Amino acid sequence: MNIREAIKARHSVRQYKDMPIAEDAKEKLEEMIRQCNEEGSLHMQLICDDPECFDTFLAHYGKFKNANHYIAIVGPKDLTDLEEKSGYYGEKVVLYAQQLGLNTCWVAGTYRKGKCKATLSTGEKIVCVISIGYGETDGVKHRSKSLNKICQVPEEDMPAWFRNGVVAALMAPTAINQQKFRITLEGDKAVITAGKGPMTKIDLGIVKYNFEAASGHKCK
Ligand SMILES: Cc1cc2nc3c(=O)[nH]c(=O)nc-3n(C[C@H](O)[C@H](O)[C@H](O)COP(=O)(O)O)c2cc1C
Repeated sequence: MNIREAIKARHSVRQYKDMPIAEDAKEKLEEMIRQCNEEGSLHMQLICDDPECFDTFLAHYGKFKNANHYIAIVGPKDLTDLEEKSGYYGEKVVLYAQQLGLNTCWVAGTYRKGKCKATLSTGEKIVCVISIGYGETDGVKHRSKSLNKICQVPEEDMPAWFRNGVVAALMAPTAINQQKFRITLEGDKAVITAGKGPMTKIDLGIVKYNFEAASGHKCK
């Protein structure tokens, strides 16, 4: 599965099979997380076989089942753009997990932060978590805004790479599926900006990663 196929195949999955993550997949994920941490100055951690983090009324209400493995997104509180970097590198790991045959769900609200087993160094905080495992299903496509709702560039003027990026951005997960972002073209550069509201900066990082991975072009 290439990256564009992974972007298309990824949907939030909240119900998992009660089984461990295969050792080779775990090793590959750990290596990807290590690289992303180095590049993004983050401290993301894969935590396996811990049923407590998702053992809460909210998680059950949100239909989580067998969510025993997760990636804690942790980073220094004073890191510039901590939220955006969390989104960007978290999504890189999410799409890699998809390529490894795993399913995921970004979670900022419906988990027990106090029971999260992440190790925090001085000055660090948990931004959010991502549940991960073998899904009971592959999830479903989310309802999406139309292309011209998030991008003012007329479709006939869009270079092919740009259009690929915008389409992939609309497939990205966003908190409560809010899709509060805008994409424009400045010269030959795509510029993505976040709207106002809770978690829109995490969303921004996620959307930027999807855009870049599908278009092959860095954005601002
Ligand atoms: C930053 C962020 C936080 C989220 N928090 C939660 C959450 O607390 N609980 C939950 O069930 N889903 C959560 N989600 C998942 C979104 O509801 C989901 O991504 C969105 O509805 C789009 O659906 P899709 O991921 O299937 O494309 C979150 C997603 C993001 C990006």
